[in-house]
Amino acid sequence: MSSGGAAAPPPVPSPVPLPAPAPPPAPTLVPRGVPVFRVDAISFRYPGGILALDGVSFEIAPNEAVCLLGSNGCGKSTLLRLLDGLAFPDSGRIEAWGRPLLPATLADEGFSREFRRRVGLVFQDADTQLFSPTVLDEVAFGPLQLGLSHEEVRARCRDVLALLGVERLADREPHALSGGEKKRVAIAAALATDPDVLLLDEPFAGLDPRSQARLVDLLQALRARGKTIVAATHDLSAVEEIAERAIVFSEDHRAVADAPASAIVRDVALLLRANLIHDHPHRHGTLAHAHPHGHSS
Ligand SMILES: Nc1ncnc2c1ncn2[C@@H]1O[C@H](COP(=O)(O)OP(=O)(O)OP(=O)(O)O)[C@@H](O)[C@H]1O
Ligand SMILES: [Mg+2]
Repeated sequence: MSSGGAAAPPPVPSPVPLPAPAPPPAPTLVPRGVPVFRVDAISFRYPGGILALDGVSFEIAPNEAVCLLGSNGCGKSTLLRLLDGLAFPDSGRIEAWGRPLLPATLADEGFSREFRRRVGLVFQDADTQLFSPTVLDEVAFGPLQLGLSHEEVRARCRDVLALLGVERLADREPHALSGGEKKRVAIAAALATDPDVLLLDEPFAGLDPRSQARLVDLLQALRARGKTIVAATHDLSAVEEIAERAIVFSEDHRAVADAPASAIVRDVALLLRANLIHDHPHRHGTLAHAHPHGHSS
């Protein structure tokens, strides 16, 4: 926008929200500049020919928050692993900040280090992620890999453990924690490197109500600090709180809707089709009847 002495020209009508001045960056449905991720017609099969993703395309702009929605086995976790460069599509292409995400590019130490610094993944199953002898070691691992000083590492660990409310678990063994505690430690470990992009696989699963509410607040605060968030979830009640956009996957592994979260969570026909809500008879008081409803994970 011009800020010169002359009168500003009248605003040009736009069908899309224009970016607001920072800070804080405003949510937008259209990519500004280079997208964080450009996913172009990717397909992926596991060994044995098991199809997980079929011709999926979308872009994610910096500072967007996007939910990935779909029933069990539709491909959400697979997609997050591909976005994290842990596996690669059989066909199609993924770019991260304009660079193709390929074994060859990730073999480049400079690109790989930068990519790992900028992207953090929280796995659906915390046991897959946690490997250190203590919670403190787990959270310190990423910052130490970045080559931060011990003082900085200590400060980061203290901050993220407090942020996730797990300070008192610092000396405990990660594998000997409860499911929800593990999840919170896994999120703390991912945040410890201060990534630009947070990939979250079922972040609310296993969390008690207070921890869920705290995580919603935390994700909103991270958005306000300019982070990009991609979260796979079954929890429809949280979608609008943490994302302005949602992508819905069908049971045949295709992206069948990509729209504002507010529209997606109100599209009953789409949610029924994608097996995100279901329609079965049940009782309110003495009155038995049927209407569609969802179940949080
Ligand atoms: N390691 C694997 N080997 C073979 N097939 C796999 C493997 N992991 C996942 N799959 C299959 O790939 C498909 C997509 O799985 P994925 O875990 O991505 O689904 P999801 O959407 O995350 O499901 P959920 O909601 O249950 O977490 C499923 O059919 C699944 O059975
Ligand atoms: Mg999954």
